[in-house]
Amino acid sequence: MTGVGIDAIEIRTGKLKLDLAETFAPAQGEDPGKYTKGLGLHASSFPDVYEDIVTMAANAAHRLMERKGLTPDDIGRIDVATESAFDNSKPVSTYVAGCLEEVYDDDFHHANKGERKFACIAGTQSLDDAFNWIRAGRNRGRAALVIATDTALYARDDPGEATQGAGAVAMLVDEDPDLVTFSTEQGFGSADETDFLKPNQQFPSVDGKRSVNVYLARMREALDDFAAQAGDLHPDDYAMVPFHTPFPGMVRKAAALGYRHIVRDTDVELALAEEIGRQPRPEEFKTREQYFDAMEEYTDELTETERYGDWYADSIEPTLSIAREVGNWYTGSVHVARAAGLKRSLEEGREMAGEQLLVASYGSGAQAEVHSETVQPGWREEIEALNVDEQIDDRYELSFEEYEQIHDVHNHDTETDVEEFTAPDGEFVFDGWGRMGERKYRYVR
Ligand code: HMG
Repeated sequence: MTGVGIDAIEIRTGKLKLDLAETFAPAQGEDPGKYTKGLGLHASSFPDVYEDIVTMAANAAHRLMERKGLTPDDIGRIDVATESAFDNSKPVSTYVAGCLEEVYDDDFHHANKGERKFACIAGTQSLDDAFNWIRAGRNRGRAALVIATDTALYARDDPGEATQGAGAVAMLVDEDPDLVTFSTEQGFGSADETDFLKPNQQFPSVDGKRSVNVYLARMREALDDFAAQAGDLHPDDYAMVPFHTPFPGMVRKAAALGYRHIVRDTDVELALAEEIGRQPRPEEFKTREQYFDAMEEYTDELTETERYGDWYADSIEPTLSIAREVGNWYTGSVHVARAAGLKRSLEEGREMAGEQLLVASYGSGAQAEVHSETVQPGWREEIEALNVDEQIDDRYELSFEEYEQIHDVHNHDTETDVEEFTAPDGEFVFDGWGRMGERKYRYVR
């Protein structure tokens, strides 16, 4: 075995679009600049009436299997990561397998199925489980199907409403993969936090401002923990840094903090010192507040330097291009960031084979995880096969009134009768309720 990692990836967006600057901001009486400049978001994706976490997951998995010429017999494990599950017992992966069995001759009865929950980091945890299963030699030559799927909705008029989204990312984890291999080293920053949670309720309770600080604090711990195993980190060692992206403005903050943190005591800090001085050290200040103020000032100056700007343009900006158009996909977000970065590399003719990615995942509640990945020679063909741009362009654009209707359609507490905005074509759709309260699905040819 030369390595274990992601062999193939597919992205499936919800088929509806809400333009945040043109449609949402004016209706909320807000300046569009809050979205385009502050949060860094242009639009959110939403599921149509007949879409949900199962259809998006099954449609992504189906395209992945067709493209790779797989049948159910090739898959030994199906893990779904989600924080939008509608069933407290039966895992979403069983619904997804049921969908796929409608279009294949054989079945997934041999496959171990499960569901992972830890806010947005569950997708990365499911990749971990698949990696460990294969490295333990329990896969008997089969691959794992990992699917991160979410409908990230907030209550109407919650500040989080600005950062909604919906979509699924299906990933095939296998030996000798075509896309990336995972490092065995990984760093964690994990603590019992109440920044964002859904205690038996559909829409999250969020302390938005605190959630931003918790993200940054846990991420710094995870970076330190990773460095303790992998050795000192240097920005030049990583071609790109895909972060969990609830909105690009969050990554702008995390990238500045991460860069500042890892260049401390390196040649980069020395080179920057000529322009903006050395980083403040706590022992140089009488109080913690003075130290934090000095750090904030240093970070502002750092992000204005050409050196930082060049690093950000190469290593961070490319990873944000899809998120800007689709919003937060919770468990799928960091995996969308990886795909976006590689997609931009392909478009710019940048060779990535052999390059390292530093992948920074996060889930509220709260936990950050950092590991590295090595891009494999087959990356180009894999990324070329994505049709995410077409999906994004083909979305139906909602008016504000239509957005209000679709929010109600997906609100579990609201009964609505809304016509679908798009026509299903060659895909799995939600098909009503079964006799035991289960959701039913069918394939529309
Ligand atoms: P808010 O109060 O709506 O927005 O909350 P704001 O007033 O703070 O503005 C946002 C940014 O836009 C600010 O930038 C403003 O200055 C700027 P910052 O100061 O932060 O750099 N701004 C403008 N810029 C230019 N022109 C303008 C303008 N107006 C304002 N005209 C908040 C924003 C993110 C808190 C809210 O949307 C929220 O609660 N979101 C949900 C929580 C969230 O996404 N938290 C992120 C970290 S936690 C996480 O990532 C986990 C998560 O994915 C869940 C999981 O793990 O399951 C959420």
